[in-house]
Amino acid sequence: MTTRTPTALGAGSFEPPASLCAAAERAMDAAQAKVDRLVTAHPDYFPLYTEQGKWHHPKEAWTNWCEGFLGGQMWIFAETTGDPLWRGRAEHYSLLVEERKHDRSVHDLGFVFWPTWKRWYDLTGDSSRNDVVVTAGKTMGLRYNPTGRYLRSFLAPDSLFIDIMMNVGIVLYAAQHSGDEALLALAHEHCRTTRRHLVRGDGSTAHEGIFDVHTGEFLRQSTQQGWRADSSWARGQTWALYGFGTCYALTGEAQYLDTSIACADYYIDCTTDQLVPPNDWSEPRPRLPYESSAAAIAASGLLQLADLVDEQRAVRYRHHAFSTLERLCHESFLAGPDDPWEGLLKHASYHEAKGLGVDESVMWGDYFLVEALHKVLGGTRTAAAIRTPSA
Ligand code: GLY
Repeated sequence: MTTRTPTALGAGSFEPPASLCAAAERAMDAAQAKVDRLVTAHPDYFPLYTEQGKWHHPKEAWTNWCEGFLGGQMWIFAETTGDPLWRGRAEHYSLLVEERKHDRSVHDLGFVFWPTWKRWYDLTGDSSRNDVVVTAGKTMGLRYNPTGRYLRSFLAPDSLFIDIMMNVGIVLYAAQHSGDEALLALAHEHCRTTRRHLVRGDGSTAHEGIFDVHTGEFLRQSTQQGWRADSSWARGQTWALYGFGTCYALTGEAQYLDTSIACADYYIDCTTDQLVPPNDWSEPRPRLPYESSAAAIAASGLLQLADLVDEQRAVRYRHHAFSTLERLCHESFLAGPDDPWEGLLKHASYHEAKGLGVDESVMWGDYFLVEALHKVLGGTRTAAAIRTPSA
């Protein structure tokens, strides 16, 4: 089996401003203080979102998809600081999620294993760590509906989520590393189905697609966390821009790069110099002005995409990512190390319609902010770090 390696045309262009680097250093220190406090107060606890700024509360999760983001931050801290305390914690919090490699109840195993076991493997080259990532990817592949040609969401067999674009990468990766051509084919089919039915001509995205499970016919667009079926939920837009970019980085399929670019351009055009989107751009009078976790995901996804495109686009994407990160590192969004607010990034929302984690900190918001700042400070570039097996 051959794997095409995309050319990193934009790499090296447009360095981050010194003011951003200084803000990023301060934010990384704050991030370590926040995670240190959380794991000291609540060992082995995996929160999704804060309630009035506190991580520990009894509110519902809706679905379990965030357990990789705590260990993922620890791996980044371990890499950045070389501190054995962070390394030990990173391994411990990765081991705590290992059994999830067999979890067939969610579509989120990329979120669980990419920030943890994939980072562990990248750092060590230990193939037993990679085996865990590959097993998780194969488990994800079991969600495939062959009539509709998509990996179904956790919600129902007839449901396809845009979020799964951030998780299908682990299926492609598992197929490449195990030589499983059938798995590779179904992962590509999932990407194509998502592109065809959830990504619109203007680069906007629907959150959900509903299919006839028996015939596989696509029925309609829908939403769970956005405003309307025909609108664009901002976080879903960022899952698409980042996820299609990752799938291109893994496979070299040009249509995934085109899709990532279309989603990125739509996102940038909508956020303009506000830099932080609301939950959904179509909401007539948004209840809240910001959904900051989408901005953090976008920044990290745009930094990856900038490594994959031509110089002109790379400058546009880096510029938007850097400006976004400067905004997110401002005290209006970032809780300082001594702030009683326990999360790092404020003004994020999980599920507005259900009233879960609204205008709070969310674990993935903190993770993707840390990931993006790590890239700014010269850490591993995600696209460049993707290991492809030798042909
Ligand atoms: N379930 C993924 C998200 O809320 O973005």
